Amino acid sequence: MSDLIYRSPLLYRLAIFFLYRGDYSERYEILDRFIKERSSVVELCCGPGDFYRGFLKKKNVNYLGVDNSADFIKRCKKKGINVIWGDVSQFNFIKSDYYIIISSLYQFHPDIRELINKMLQYAKCVLISEPIKNISNSKYKIISKIAAYLTNKKNYENNFHFTEKSLDTMMLAGFKNKIVYVQTTKNGREKIYVLKNESN
Ligand SMILES: C[S@@+](CC[C@H](N)C(=O)[O-])C[C@H]1O[C@@H](n2cnc3c(N)ncnc32)[C@H](O)[C@@H]1O
Repeated sequence: MSDLIYRSPLLYRLAIFFLYRGDYSERYEILDRFIKERSSVVELCCGPGDFYRGFLKKKNVNYLGVDNSADFIKRCKKKGINVIWGDVSQFNFIKSDYYIIISSLYQFHPDIRELINKMLQYAKCVLISEPIKNISNSKYKIISKIAAYLTNKKNYENNFHFTEKSLDTMMLAGFKNKIVYVQTTKNGREKIYVLKNESN
């Protein structure tokens, strides 16, 4: 079963608008600069398809999105976006110029490194944008509990999120020689990593 805010694109957008206070698309703008016209793109945890609709569509990319929210997938399909419903952990990876994962890596704890390695195995370039400030980590216990419950209903007592330090530590320990670009968004909420696999 999907977590609460992933059952409604409207609720999801409201939550994101509140969290990012208008800077919602900055991470998309940064990631978009790396994607070439008419390339192939797989986006894991594509959500309601906002990155594709706002940016990739005009580039005529060969796009495939994957998400395990039936509501998001239904909405994407209605808009004519090529997506499949499914758990990323069960996804049959295919070769693609780009693999992208936005605001979603934390959900694969403790198997995050394995997921990045898998993307690298199948892509020329892997684009990651990951939250490093999270209201689930708020010093106000009530706020952190509500945020954790909304985004991770099944296991909200044990809700994993990165800080900038823990994300950097993992990325440098596992992928130092693959990293070609790093940037933190202006609002300091997300950090972007671009990794290249020269052998693909
Ligand atoms: C924070 S949202 C990010 C959505 C989108 N990437 C964006 O930036 O708007 C996290 C997404 O991950 C999806 N998700 C969570 N666990 C998943 C899994 N195991 N397999 C596929 N999708 C998953 C949720 O349904 C949700 O759409």
